[in-house]
Amino acid sequence: MATTQTSDRGNWNSKLGFILAAAGSAVGLGNIWGYPTQVADNGGAAFILVYLVCCILVGLPVMIAEITIGRKTGKNPVGAFKALDKTGYAHLIGYWGVLCGFMILAFYLVISGWTLAYVFEEIFRFTGNAGYAAWFGDLTNGPKNAAFTVIFLLLTISIINGGVSNGIERATKFLMPVLLFILVIMIFYVLRLEGSAEGIRQYLKPDFSLINIDLTLSAMGQAFFSLSLGMGALITYGSYLKRDQNIVESATYVTVTDITIAFTAGMLVIPAMYVALAQGITIFGDDGELISSVSLVFTVLPQLFENIGGALGLTISISFFLLLALAALTSAISLLEVPVSYMIDEHNMRRKNASWVIGGSIGVVAVIISFDINLIDYFVYIFNEIGLPLGGLMLCLFLGWVWKTENAVVEIKHGFENADNSVFVKLWRIFIKYICPVLIAIVFITTVLDIIRS
Ligand code: PHE
Repeated sequence: MATTQTSDRGNWNSKLGFILAAAGSAVGLGNIWGYPTQVADNGGAAFILVYLVCCILVGLPVMIAEITIGRKTGKNPVGAFKALDKTGYAHLIGYWGVLCGFMILAFYLVISGWTLAYVFEEIFRFTGNAGYAAWFGDLTNGPKNAAFTVIFLLLTISIINGGVSNGIERATKFLMPVLLFILVIMIFYVLRLEGSAEGIRQYLKPDFSLINIDLTLSAMGQAFFSLSLGMGALITYGSYLKRDQNIVESATYVTVTDITIAFTAGMLVIPAMYVALAQGITIFGDDGELISSVSLVFTVLPQLFENIGGALGLTISISFFLLLALAALTSAISLLEVPVSYMIDEHNMRRKNASWVIGGSIGVVAVIISFDINLIDYFVYIFNEIGLPLGGLMLCLFLGWVWKTENAVVEIKHGFENADNSVFVKLWRIFIKYICPVLIAIVFITTVLDIIRS
């Protein structure tokens, strides 16, 4: 069976291939749907500040750690922790990751399905078929949600079936630049409209009094989610990485790309909200809160597109939802790749069988969520806001105190000969061992105390 295992594993074909695939994993609904919604929900620039701190002080070190563990072991998260373990328990961190990946993908598919459905919603609305448009645009329509969820799942499975370099790498190499291009074009358009200046002000003017533990937990969860950390997606992608590549440099590229795209998406969505406001569309309820977080992007932006009107409005709106769908697809494949690589490595399954079995099971949970979208909030809270930082905390403790950072540096030196003398790497060792776990733990402990007190 060992031959099945090696033949169904793979490698990235080029240096850029890994960076693009990892960036493709990182850039997704988290950037274009999650981040702007969180910013709007949590008081604008105050959130951005805490988010940036989380990304740089915790996210980047954890990303380097994940890729290093992945490349060192060449395995899925469960197998990777098992291979480096001395305690007999570390594989549980891997299982936690596989579980989080499974559950996150379940709700991720539903939202991704919405992005596809909205392409049709926009076409029908612009061509005057209000009835059809309403049907495609109804986020609570269970059967419709389920249908698009399944379509999106099939797209994801078909790419995963193609394997590492054929499927994932080829797809992301093409999709990432397209995505960036469409985003920039749209920003140029929106920034010319009335109201956008107020949006920019709200986006960039921090109100420090808004920083509290809820905001910090959200920012930490958002950082892990957006950078695809805490569940082993980058352990898995790192396991396909060749030894000539500089891990520290690659992780920095991916982190910077992800932050840049989130920030850019905010430059689009937040001003667009205020443009909508200037045009008389309600975006805040009486309590000053956003009307509905999960659906914000799906309700406010189409109104804006309609106001633009004509062929141009239609083109922009279709591009936007296609862009969201493409970004979601390159992330969904990395979420599915985690449990699939686990089945290939640990249960000697063939790639195709693994992707159908795992994809099918996730599909069942996703269809259940399709019929009750309130479940999304619970899934986000448990598996994203709590689950991912918890996975990250355990990973830091494992690397810092069990496997040991000096062993990690030996791996990092492949592709980065000077790693031993690099100040950055020295700092990284301190961060992984002490600072990251302490920061994550503080956020957790404060949250628990807060819940107990309230
Ligand atoms: N980072 C992806 C996004 O921003 C989601 C994701 C989370 C992907 C965890 C893989 C692992 O949409």
